[in-house]
Amino acid sequence: PRLAVLASGRGSNLQAILDAIGDGRLDARVAGVFGDRPKALALERARDAGIPARGLRPRDFASRQDYDAALFAAIAAVEPDLIVCAGYMRLLGAAAIEPWQGRIINIHPSLLPAFKGLDTHARALEAGVAEHGASLHYVTADLDGGPVIAQARVAVHHGDDADALAARVLAVEHPLMLATLQLLCAGRVNLRDTRVELDGQPL
Ligand code: GRF
Repeated sequence: PRLAVLASGRGSNLQAILDAIGDGRLDARVAGVFGDRPKALALERARDAGIPARGLRPRDFASRQDYDAALFAAIAAVEPDLIVCAGYMRLLGAAAIEPWQGRIINIHPSLLPAFKGLDTHARALEAGVAEHGASLHYVTADLDGGPVIAQARVAVHHGDDADALAARVLAVEHPLMLATLQLLCAGRVNLRDTRVELDGQPL
């Protein structure tokens, strides 16, 4: 399967995907990497790996809809089977997402439905939860609200600050991303009409 990856920043999840493809743990190909910050490290990592990378600046477009349309036209041009949002930090409009329903996923650093949105680690600490983690979910127009595919959990330790907790979560994000992509790329999980299926059977 061909993957398109969307990223805004550091790109450690992208790197985990590239490393897994490189050593044969994931049977897929990254066809393009896209983002809203042309200088993002994620785009650099892609270029270093010989993968087409494209950064579009939202302020170069008249509206969010125009930006989304240009972004998704660029994505469609690499003909992905699956779009992976890996640290892409902007809202995607419903019109852009709609044609890709069931073929666009996002990694979010919380145990959804808890802590949708930003600053999840600080908010988890403030709430005093004992467990935190990351979720891989289908993207829908409902921000961080699409069906969850898989989650990874970590314990919150006494004395954690947001950075310590973020690092512990990031360490499980990469294997979570990989395990989920292995399932999806093998065709073992599908989203159809909001039903999640495993091996072609409804759960
Ligand atoms: C990850 O924590 C991801 O869950 C979040 O943004 C971070 C991206 O990290 N939404 P990276 O760019 O993959 O290193």
